[in-house]
Amino acid sequence: MTIKIAIDGPAGSGKSTVAKILAKKLNFVYVDTGALYRAITYKILKEGININEKKAILNIINNFDITLKSERIFLDGIDITEEIRKPYISQNVSQISQIPEIREFMVKLQKELANKNNIVMDGRDITTVVMPDAQFKFYITATEEVRAKRRYNELKANNFNISFKDILNEIKIRDKMDMERSIAPLKIAEDAIVVDTSDMTIDEVTNKLYDIIIKQL
Ligand code: CDP
Ligand code: CDP
Repeated sequence: MTIKIAIDGPAGSGKSTVAKILAKKLNFVYVDTGALYRAITYKILKEGININEKKAILNIINNFDITLKSERIFLDGIDITEEIRKPYISQNVSQISQIPEIREFMVKLQKELANKNNIVMDGRDITTVVMPDAQFKFYITATEEVRAKRRYNELKANNFNISFKDILNEIKIRDKMDMERSIAPLKIAEDAIVVDTSDMTIDEVTNKLYDIIIKQL
């Protein structure tokens, strides 16, 4: 049996940063499931697919050629790591992530990865749907303002000209869609440990999770 560490939480809570460091420290595989949803969103937008056309969506799924290689993500052999972080993807990803056929495909893919490797996986439905059997479950959160500020700083550092207000708004809309959707909404699993990172540094969060894990491994 593989060891599974599942992390869920809203946008900008620090999940992927912490998950990545934990995976390195433990020598586990890291899977950023948000990046997979962002990648399929990129493909659908690029090809101008109408999301109400089931046939076109199935065609995208059946030809979804994705590779995760040392922190980079490749679609059809092309590196899209930076592209999928752009605001136009963030603004569309939650809607596309609600499509049942896409969720079914992603969950299957992610379960397969989790059954083959010791894994740290983060997203929105990892503790509840993808790895309900995980030995370790965390729900990482922070206030909306803190999360928006983190995203703002990140985008500014990458030379994106977007206002704090717009980012806060996008985060609020995305959280609402992710938490209120009917299939696999973001919620706190009954047996998850909740960590509010509003006043915590990345190191503090990582150490807290690492200590909990290492005590029980
Ligand atoms: O990094 P950030 O928190 O902004 O988002 P992300 O983890 O890259 O996820 C982008 C979007 O993908 C989320 O807002 C969800 O709509 C969707 N997602 C999902 O539905 N299920 C997951 N397991 C992961 C992401
Ligand atoms: O994956 P998620 O959307 O939950 O968040 P992230 O991409 O890991 O973190 C968003 C930004 O917040 C990154 O630039 C992190 O460096 C930063 N961060 C922070 O300043 N303090 C934390 N405790 C966690 C993350």
